Amino acid sequence: MASHETATTYNDAVVKQFTVMTVIWGIVGMLVGVIIASQLYWPSLNLGLEWFSFGRLRPLHTNAVIFAFGGCALLGTSLYVVQRTCHARLISDGLASFVFWGYQAVIVLAAITLPLGLTQGKEYAELIWPIDILLAVVWVAYAVLFFGTIMKRKVPHIYVANWFYGAFIIAVAVLHIVNSLAIPSSLTHSYPIYSGAVDAMVQWWYGHNAVGFFLTAGFLGMMYYFVPRQANRPMYSYRLSIVHFWALIAIYMWAGPHHLHYTAIPDWAQSVGMVFSLILLAPSWGGMINGMMTLSGAWHKLRTDPILKFLIVSLSFYGMSTFEGPMMSIKTVNALSHYTDWTIGHVHSGALGWVAMISIGAMYMLIPRVVGLKDMFSTKLIDTHFWVHTIGVVLYTVSMWISGIGQGLMSRATNPDGTLQYAFIEIVKFTYPYYLVRLLGGVLVLAGMLIMLYNMIKTLQQAKQGFAAPVLPVANQHA
Ligand code: HEM
Ligand code: HEM
Repeated sequence: MASHETATTYNDAVVKQFTVMTVIWGIVGMLVGVIIASQLYWPSLNLGLEWFSFGRLRPLHTNAVIFAFGGCALLGTSLYVVQRTCHARLISDGLASFVFWGYQAVIVLAAITLPLGLTQGKEYAELIWPIDILLAVVWVAYAVLFFGTIMKRKVPHIYVANWFYGAFIIAVAVLHIVNSLAIPSSLTHSYPIYSGAVDAMVQWWYGHNAVGFFLTAGFLGMMYYFVPRQANRPMYSYRLSIVHFWALIAIYMWAGPHHLHYTAIPDWAQSVGMVFSLILLAPSWGGMINGMMTLSGAWHKLRTDPILKFLIVSLSFYGMSTFEGPMMSIKTVNALSHYTDWTIGHVHSGALGWVAMISIGAMYMLIPRVVGLKDMFSTKLIDTHFWVHTIGVVLYTVSMWISGIGQGLMSRATNPDGTLQYAFIEIVKFTYPYYLVRLLGGVLVLAGMLIMLYNMIKTLQQAKQGFAAPVLPVANQHA
């Protein structure tokens, strides 16, 4: 450790580790996304190898992008934000190291077991029980680190970003532990303690709140710190942020059954899920408006600051997907959208538009700061990344919307005598060209991530060479 380090400096070493891994896991997860998108267009790319087949690689993709890419972005930014807003160093460097290495171990174990076909078969909760236990331990350690730092804060106030990160940490712990309860039958196999409709309800209570707390609340924490910071303006409305927080937390938990419309779960439960999903539009848009309006009086900054472009466009996608979600939760709309690519379009407008763009924007802000520089190596390349990514996301989501709505309409079209108008293969043929457009979108998004990797490597090299004067008293400086 640097000799000038004092008790007032922050532990940015762990933030740097998570930041670098966000970019690396982002590339890995999106590469697997491009591979499975190619397999849907060229099925022969399954290569006849079971561990390289679509069915094995799809969960690898979802786990890598959500938990490895998104997770590292969330853990890294939360540990940065909690220190800055509490004016306190993390309570323990050892614990911080344990959280980083433990979390990476979970990711590596997932990357080995999922292609091998070792899975519990529950979407977004596929990992086998020993890895689940390791994850629970790491997560509790993370909670102790985060809340311990809040406890020793030097300012009386707890900034709203920490509320969102805190809710994300607590909710994910509860969801993960309750949904993963199982009775092991061997080292790699277990039986869930729930069965039938109860299992389905617990799984989608988990699944939807994984969206609500992992893919939303945590990233809102990121938004509440990085948007005002990058715009250099105060949050538009602090009061709205508090209303936003409590409304979101109270409503999300009830919306899960919209994933189970027209199934064997009770009809009233489906209706409750639908109604709460519709109400969810209000707090979601409250948050989006709060973020967007933070820029009022500073919109001109969008012309020159590509990081701000990432952050603000991510909020537009957040608004779009949280309008689309409530619509899709209406039972009659869901009758059309479920089992089609519309869901995939919705997922990726949220995932690539909201989650990836806010994370990428935050990373571009963090990377130079955690190595003591002011800016990334190249602002021009950030701008290039922004455009390549945005065009990629639009190609991805629009192609899936057209393909999905077409699939839904064709599946339900009937002849006057009541027989189906289209054979399944005709629907597949209709879908086919859109899979190529989606693949092109994915390749662009991946290309953008490679540009980011290059920019990051160059920035880290500059820091090593002492290219620019340090701007912050960071703990991991050795010069
Ligand atoms: C280069 C970027 C990406 C590409 C090419 C891509 C591609 C794909 C493909 C082909 C599927 C399977 C669709 C199907 O089964 O029909 C998929 C599913 C999924 N992807 Fe991505 N993806 C990308 C980025 C991301 C990111 C960044 C996230 C999250 C942060 C994400 C989250 C998901 C999820 C949650 C699913 C499962 C959706 C569901 O079951 O409804 N993807 N992706
Ligand atoms: C107000 C907010 C939202 C509501 C009410 C909502 C609602 C829905 C609905 C109705 C579905 C389709 C369920 C089905 O037919 O199976 C769905 C799927 C999904 N949504 Fe959302 N959504 C919202 C926001 C988001 C956001 C912001 C993201 C991502 C960042 C997201 C990620 C997903 C994912 C991953 C799925 C696919 C789940 C699966 O594997 O089946 N949603 N959502």
